[in-house]
Amino acid sequence: MEPVISDRRGRIKHKLRLSLTDRCNFRCAYCMPETPEWAPREALLSPDELLRLTSLFVHRLGIRELRLTGGEPLLRADLESLIARLGHLRAHGLERISLTTNGSLLSRRASTLKHAGLDDLNISLDAMHPDRFRALSGGRGDILDVLAGIDAARQAGLPTKVNCVVVRNYNEDQILPLARWAQSQAIPLRFIEFMPLDGQGSWTHQRVVLEAEILDILRPHFEITALPRTSEPATYYSLDGSFRVGIISTISNPFCSSCDRLRLTATGELYSCLFSAEGRDLRLALRSGEPDDAIESVIRGHVWNKEAGYAASGYVERKISMHALGG
Ligand code: 5AD
Ligand code: SF4
Repeated sequence: MEPVISDRRGRIKHKLRLSLTDRCNFRCAYCMPETPEWAPREALLSPDELLRLTSLFVHRLGIRELRLTGGEPLLRADLESLIARLGHLRAHGLERISLTTNGSLLSRRASTLKHAGLDDLNISLDAMHPDRFRALSGGRGDILDVLAGIDAARQAGLPTKVNCVVVRNYNEDQILPLARWAQSQAIPLRFIEFMPLDGQGSWTHQRVVLEAEILDILRPHFEITALPRTSEPATYYSLDGSFRVGIISTISNPFCSSCDRLRLTATGELYSCLFSAEGRDLRLALRSGEPDDAIESVIRGHVWNKEAGYAASGYVERKISMHALGG
């Protein structure tokens, strides 16, 4: 029988997001605190520890898809080697290795990532206007680097999606330029409602640009038709019958009841939900020489008790923000 891991609400987990670092070369306000406190180096899982844990998730718990995130995962020089090593798990049920990145360091590595065995990419892009883009990245990003990264990824044959987090008084004026650009490039684009996970605790309901409002902004410019929902968190719309835009509406339309993912921070804390107040430390168990059976049962216990999700917990006060949790 194939291994599975599920919670007490019957939600089976097939996807694991691995944060490879909490560090980032950008400072997007919806993600990072103003003065981030990085995890100490010795707390980061070593490549061997990461491989052991991931292997356990695949072999014993039925995880089939991995998404590597950060912080910014391209800050790791060993990313290609990690992907190649994780690729050995394909013989044991792993089906996909994806990456989420800000794209700024991608152009020179897209083909080596493909070669290492990466399957696909999500790239964050919150504005089309170069000055706006720089401001939104905390004064650090150059949109030309990101656009070059997107080009390089597509040339390397890596399927690429673009994600834009929409925050009121921040980038809602970029929705239309982004949609026009994505249409001209025939690149899949998804807008994401701002979630209460930012590093500065500045989230309020008022700052969320809801799915309905995003559609209102696009409607005068495109012929919009809703497409049938799939198991993906995004709802898709056809624009002018020729091109699709997705909206991930965690706030207006939570998809927690079908959540199939788990998250592991770079320091080895397991989070069963983005909105959990705290995670379960697995690093200590690894480093104190616990056998796989013991670690498996800790994971199963933690996941079994997974909360209902955003719909139930809403805003949570806590120390961890998205830069450590991996988006
Ligand atoms: N709300 C929604 N999405 C977020 N991300 C980070 N912080 C937030 C937030 N507060 C997502 C974005 C980004 C990825 C790294 O994480 O999609 O592109
Ligand atoms: Fe870095 Fe991505 Fe967070 Fe922006 S959203 S600060 S690029 S990890």
